[in-house]
Amino acid sequence: MKLKGAHLLSTKQLDMEAVGQIMAVADEMQPYATRQKITRVLQGAILGNLFFEPSTRTRISFGAAFNRLGGAVRETAGIDMTSLKKGESWRDTARVVSAYTDIMTIRHPQAAVVAEFAQAATVPVINGGDGTNEHPTQALQDIYTLHKKIGALNSLDGLKIAMVGDLKFGRTVHSLSYLLALFKNIQFCFIAPDALQMPQEIQDYIQQKNHGHIIKTTDNLTDGVTAADIIYMTRIQEERFASPQEFKKFRGQYSLNKKMVAEHCQKNVLIMHPLPRDSRPESNELDKSLDGSPNLIIFHQSDNGLLIRMALFALILGVEKQTHRDVRAVEWHVL
Ligand code: NCD
Repeated sequence: MKLKGAHLLSTKQLDMEAVGQIMAVADEMQPYATRQKITRVLQGAILGNLFFEPSTRTRISFGAAFNRLGGAVRETAGIDMTSLKKGESWRDTARVVSAYTDIMTIRHPQAAVVAEFAQAATVPVINGGDGTNEHPTQALQDIYTLHKKIGALNSLDGLKIAMVGDLKFGRTVHSLSYLLALFKNIQFCFIAPDALQMPQEIQDYIQQKNHGHIIKTTDNLTDGVTAADIIYMTRIQEERFASPQEFKKFRGQYSLNKKMVAEHCQKNVLIMHPLPRDSRPESNELDKSLDGSPNLIIFHQSDNGLLIRMALFALILGVEKQTHRDVRAVEWHVL
């Protein structure tokens, strides 16, 4: 797959070569992301960062990634402050903002809107989360995190991963499953209440790849996590339920804590979460007793989001080979 000039809407678009390329460019972004050096490779370019759903890390890291490459960012958050409030169509908005920017990132509660937006845009569009559908950049930072922890990309073959929680509405686990399907002999264990299980079409997609994957589904957390190399916890997606009562039915059903990990999990298990974790006591899917544990790699994931987004901007805008030109040292105080 050619990344230059492409939209990135789904991890289903990516092949192994593209994944390898994104990871390699992400590695090269390290000195700029960690404030050792300054690159200006995107000086003059503008990102339109359009967020129509709550976000902290994805919105800020898209913007920061573009800024760290020397580009400028224009953003809008929430529908109320845009002309969509005046009845403008998504197609018109996409066409208009395309002329002001070089690339756009968008998050919206409806998948169809992001697809339509990309169709009408005349610059590349990156999906920053389209409703319950997908979150491709999160999945890429998750795979990159595993690659950095475990080793060469093909050493992820044969991985046993348990995904836990709201697998129906959680878009991160959808994109991650599609991406993992590119590897070989992955053992997926989907741990969720029946009503929130991984959608059948995603399970079918994994099987149809014919890469030797095995899928197990269960609603029992301890059973499911025992053999896992990776446990990927997710938040119950409160905002997607028909009513607060519906949400309350599932809230707090799965909570992973230090004691459980010590009693039931492999010693070197890696524990992931796309964040935000819902730390309210009634939810608490990932307990703070695990904070500081070497098994917990949630902040490696969020840190790596910057590298992955920088890599995607460089590759989609076709400047990945020029990044190291005219580099300067950072002169301000860096901790
Ligand atoms: C996720 C999302 O928005 O889908 N957050 C993120 O971008 N890291 C996960 C979530 O909200 O539960």
